[in-house]
Amino acid sequence: MAPKKGVNEMAENTNGMLDDIQEVLLSEEKLHEIVERIGAQISEDYKDKKLLMVSILKGSVVFMADLMRAITIPCRIDFMAVSSYGSGTKTSGVVKIIKDLDIPLEGYDLLIVEDILDSGMTLSYILDILKSRGPRSIQICTLFDKPERRQADVKAAYVGTQVPDAFIVGYGLDYDEKYRNLPFVGVLKPEVYGG
Ligand code: IMP
Ligand code: MG
Repeated sequence: MAPKKGVNEMAENTNGMLDDIQEVLLSEEKLHEIVERIGAQISEDYKDKKLLMVSILKGSVVFMADLMRAITIPCRIDFMAVSSYGSGTKTSGVVKIIKDLDIPLEGYDLLIVEDILDSGMTLSYILDILKSRGPRSIQICTLFDKPERRQADVKAAYVGTQVPDAFIVGYGLDYDEKYRNLPFVGVLKPEVYGG
């Protein structure tokens, strides 16, 4: 883990990013605890399996990097990038694959690693695509869950924590590609996104 910094100390060197944060929802320490817990659980559940962790870019990279180091069994990793079709701010659920996986999935126990499960439309589409490639099993691990926003019938086997229906950033999560490098997770001030 990177050296821990307090919010006040960070304020001096995040070039105004902290001014856009309404409140810190999860500290670095809390995130570390969550990741350790899920990593231990996955290590136990997949000890007799052939684990392939697939991170959906880009929001889940920070979570993925920490989670894989909290997993104590052999595992393989891969990355997939998708973009949503359709206009407006809502996910259409129809996604285009921008970067596909490198290997065939037969025989693997696939674990999709996501940053946040919101409407579930994106993951529902990705699940259908990946299931059709015949992995031995397929499950979802999401760091954050906003259950009251769900539209598609998607369930995660591993959930870090539920979060309120607010726009959150940091630890990989962005607004307009910004704030991903904040080491904690905070609620973005609504005025930043015109909310
Ligand atoms: P959905 O589940 O298809 O609606 O979309 C999930 C995706 O929307 C996530 O992978 C994030 O990229 C993005 N997203 C949803 N809620 C938030 C949030 O509060 N902060 C940052 N990104 C979010
Ligand atoms: Mg995003």
